[in-house]
Amino acid sequence: MAPPKPQDDITPPVLYFNRRAIMRGAAVAASALATGGLYRLLNAKSEAVVATRRLAGVTQATPRDAHALGYPVDEPMTSFADVTHYNNFYEFTTDKDGVADSAAGFSTAGWRIAVEGLVRRPRVFSMADLAALGAPEERVYRMRCVEAWSMVIPWAGFSLSKLLEAVEPTAEARFVAFETLHDPARMPGQRVASLDWPYVEGLRLDEAMHPLTLLATGLYGRELPPQDGAPVRLVVPWKYGFKGIKSIVKISLTATQPPCTWNVRAPGEYGFLANVNPQVDHPRWSQATEQRIGETGRRPTLMFNGYAEQVAHLYAGTDLRAHF
Ligand code: MTE
Repeated sequence: MAPPKPQDDITPPVLYFNRRAIMRGAAVAASALATGGLYRLLNAKSEAVVATRRLAGVTQATPRDAHALGYPVDEPMTSFADVTHYNNFYEFTTDKDGVADSAAGFSTAGWRIAVEGLVRRPRVFSMADLAALGAPEERVYRMRCVEAWSMVIPWAGFSLSKLLEAVEPTAEARFVAFETLHDPARMPGQRVASLDWPYVEGLRLDEAMHPLTLLATGLYGRELPPQDGAPVRLVVPWKYGFKGIKSIVKISLTATQPPCTWNVRAPGEYGFLANVNPQVDHPRWSQATEQRIGETGRRPTLMFNGYAEQVAHLYAGTDLRAHF
């Protein structure tokens, strides 16, 4: 594997967090263990106001549905205020606490998603076309960021497989590539080279077809707010959060593995698979435990983020240390 690129023009997430804590004079600042949970305690938000509409036709999953579908999460949900005010979305800012303000007013009117490549029926979808694929279901998933913080989020959306089935992948298609909007006029973070733009991500076709893999258009029963990836983003709950690409405008079916933003930037730190794995540490920090936002103590990180029963078979025979 190629050596990681120098991290000169970007602050690594953990150091970034610590710098903010130092700036706020927190006693915990010097510790590399200072993470999102402490940050939230030091910067408690009361009820956050986020102006999104209720999402039409969301069917709320009952606990029984969740069990039947094999993805129950018996853990408290992260507050709406935290889900919408502690974000990673470098197209707006690298300041997690500032994304909501920077993205406020981002217009998604007339949004289109082109689905193309190795498919029999390439098509450009409007948001209304997406909604016609099926009423959004509520899915409560754990979300584990590679930086070792986590949340439990009630998403609304539908399995990506529904969209892929509609375009009919050809026999040659083996991967799915995703691309975020590139528009520096509307996304101020794209005016600086904090990452290579546009943000791109990818999955193997079997991962993309897995019923847990969600195209999310909402959370907490409302349309996605800009800071969480409006109007449509990917959610792959057994993988690190950076696979969950936001504000998608293009999906392409390909024969070869597509480039992925963080993997291209630092291949020694962020793999293509990026499965949550407490046994494989990041070169600069442990992945054994995590800080659940809104809680004080740390939780053990679960293999495949707690979805091993559903997805471990996808990686049978794969050396997960080599393919992290
Ligand atoms: N998608 C785009 N386009 N740009 C980003 O910077 N950040 C990723 C992912 N998707 C990111 C993105 C990372 S690192 C994480 S952890 C999640 O979004 C965070 O999602 P959230 O802010 O809704 O919790």
